[in-house]
Amino acid sequence: MILVTGGAGFIGANFILDWFAQADEEIINLDNLTYAGNLENLASLKEDKRHVFIKGDICDSSLIINLLTKFKPRAIINFAAESHVDRSIEEPDSFIQTNIVGTFRLLEATQGYWDELEKNKKKEFRFLHVSTDEVYGSLSSKEKAFDENHRYEPNSPYSASKAASDHLIRAYHKTYGLPVLTTNCSNNYGPYQFPEKLIPLIIINALTNKPLPVYGDGQQIRDWLYVKDHCVAIQRVLEAGVPGETYNVGGWNEKPNIDIVHTICSLLDTLSPQIDGRNYNEQITFVTDRPGHDRRYAINSNKIKRDLGWEPAETFETGIHKTIKWYLDNQSWVQNVQSGAYREWIDKNYKERIL
Ligand code: NAD
Ligand code: TYD
Repeated sequence: MILVTGGAGFIGANFILDWFAQADEEIINLDNLTYAGNLENLASLKEDKRHVFIKGDICDSSLIINLLTKFKPRAIINFAAESHVDRSIEEPDSFIQTNIVGTFRLLEATQGYWDELEKNKKKEFRFLHVSTDEVYGSLSSKEKAFDENHRYEPNSPYSASKAASDHLIRAYHKTYGLPVLTTNCSNNYGPYQFPEKLIPLIIINALTNKPLPVYGDGQQIRDWLYVKDHCVAIQRVLEAGVPGETYNVGGWNEKPNIDIVHTICSLLDTLSPQIDGRNYNEQITFVTDRPGHDRRYAINSNKIKRDLGWEPAETFETGIHKTIKWYLDNQSWVQNVQSGAYREWIDKNYKERIL
């Protein structure tokens, strides 16, 4: 079996659902269900014995040691993190705690467990750390896409905390020989993404007749990857990645934010037209920019293609169409996720942004 942390969040839940669609190996899912963790994402696994959910914190060393001793996983995949840049600007503490201290505690417990494994199991064991392209900082329009050797230059408390966790992963390999793998992926989108992130926020605001907030001039560029392509990449790295190596994962889909918002609006005009015939792009509102806002991310994923044969299956056009359809078809998930805590965040983040 494998131990997954943060499996009730956006990418972790997609990973678990996709895993069981093609494998029977059990997953222990350790997640402390922050505002971003949602067991409804895994509702289809309710009666499924292959999935064991444990509510708990990756900072809790004794819990992790107990889980490792009891379940003896052959691999750990660490998705658990605080993941939203705007929240890291408002309240960085939990980012330091989960992303840095949590990764450290997980590594310490894993190191002790791995050390005691018998020779063959020790050789086969893997610790895969799921990280982000944001650790590399911001690119100018002329600079080449990030490859695995790009310098680390994180600019937000979120990316700095992820960068710190990446360094700890590296250190546990170099110092103790722990067989770690790191993936640094670009922006994901797709089913089950919490609607504080750009794409689901725009879809939901559009459908509920609210402003579509675009930070600054909307010309910031992100490199978008459909979440299920990311999950395939993680599986591929887990089965064939070389311990100690890092793999950049991206969709070759660089797009300015304003283009993303226009694309969503025009797809919604077709898939869910407004009764009064108005176009959704009339709701676009430019708002105050994010402090320290990274201008451009772009990922060079040649290494994972060359060494492991991974390439994204979706184009942005196919992926965004599937994503919008998913949000239209899953209105009860959308309703339930917009809890009091969600509304509090939206009030806090957008109240002072209106220009
Ligand atoms: P998410 O915020 O949707 O989910 C995070 C999950 O971790 C939640 O279920 C939450 O409850 C859980 N969690 C948080 N703190 C925890 C703790 N202390 N102990 C146990 N569980 C805890 O995040 P996501 O978008 O699914 O991202 C998953 C991972 O992928 C993160 O490490 C993130 O940095 C990385 N990543 C995300 C993206 C993206 O575009 N979303 C891109 C590249 C990398
Ligand atoms: P986000 O989804 O928060 O991901 P990240 O900051 O990790 O890249 O934001 C994606 C881009 O969209 C980023 O440049 C910030 C921008 N953005 C807006 O313009 N408006 C919004 O309301 C949000 C949430 C993000």
